[in-house]
Amino acid sequence: MSIPGQFTLHTTDGQARRATLTTAHGEIQTPIFMPVGTQGTVKSLSPLDLEEMNAQIILGNTYHLYLRPGDELVARRGGLHRFANWKRPILTDSGGFQVFSLQSIRKLSEEGVEFRSYIDGSKHFFSPEKAIDIQKNLGSDIMMVLDECVGYGADREYTEKSLEMTTRWAERCRTHHPRGTNGQIMFGIVQGGFFKDLREKSLDQLRGIDFEGFAIGGLSVGESTKEMYDILHHITPLMPADKPRYLMGVGTPLDILEGVAAGVDMFDCVLPSRNARNGTLFTSQGKVNIKRAEFAEDDSPLDPECGCYTCRNFTKAYLRHLYMAKELLSYRLNTYHNLYFYLDMMKQVRASIENGSFAELKRRFEAAYATE
Ligand code: GUN
Ligand code: ZN
Repeated sequence: MSIPGQFTLHTTDGQARRATLTTAHGEIQTPIFMPVGTQGTVKSLSPLDLEEMNAQIILGNTYHLYLRPGDELVARRGGLHRFANWKRPILTDSGGFQVFSLQSIRKLSEEGVEFRSYIDGSKHFFSPEKAIDIQKNLGSDIMMVLDECVGYGADREYTEKSLEMTTRWAERCRTHHPRGTNGQIMFGIVQGGFFKDLREKSLDQLRGIDFEGFAIGGLSVGESTKEMYDILHHITPLMPADKPRYLMGVGTPLDILEGVAAGVDMFDCVLPSRNARNGTLFTSQGKVNIKRAEFAEDDSPLDPECGCYTCRNFTKAYLRHLYMAKELLSYRLNTYHNLYFYLDMMKQVRASIENGSFAELKRRFEAAYATE
């Protein structure tokens, strides 16, 4: 019998890992990309669409679902899986990042963080325990600890104090929800900004707590690609090899491949879904901006190498027309394609690790996306 949190490493190719993570709603095959469904929906898509493109797990958000419709309302409906009719695994972020990134007015203390609702301005308070209670109400398979994501440019002194508080918060989260409770597993989040020794300090403190997995937070917050890759390659190999590693909020296709090369197993990002809605589409030939005039009478598919519903059935001319007319179908077809592209890339990544050709796959994508 497999138990939630069980992580089985199948094979490696360099530092890249091919593994299986067991959750209460089934297994996920890694490396994996998790589509973002902040409000309990991946914008413009139905669960049927997501199942059809083989999304294995989606994200939900503690911060948004707590404010609207309310986590207790969701709990009364049997949890987020039932409420949204999504039968596969769900990971929920703790709200830490959203409070810190969306909020200018907030008060931070050892006890937790006070913030104002982006909907009606009302005051709210998240303690580490509260963030976990909300995620228990939502019934997610993977819960994230409450953390402070320090902004880019934070100095060493602030970053060190912050990561130490994040560790104490992480301890409180684990104590509030001991390992093995109702099938919900919990990941700690490594912080430490752009100081390598502080990243190590954060990791050393967190690995003393019995988490089922570890995330890297505080990246993609305004730094250069080089700075991000530097921290990524420094800290990932130091993370426990027998537990899943999750790079939060990253990124472009090349960022994800770089993460896989460093030994990361899980990724999420709004980029494919958000870009889809503003007409930026990822293809095997690089990024395409569908609003460009050159596509007005282009009767070829968006990406001839893509097997998705959009590419099999519609021309660039039609996709451009939908976009220019701001038709609702534009959001759906574009989102469908971009997420399919990301999920298909991860499928290729998993196959390449299995047959030892990951480096070659990575070079192919780097050639297509070289100009970015
Ligand atoms: N999403 C992207 N970055 C972060 C982070 O540092 N912390 C949390 N909780 N979520 C994130
Ligand atoms: Zn497609």
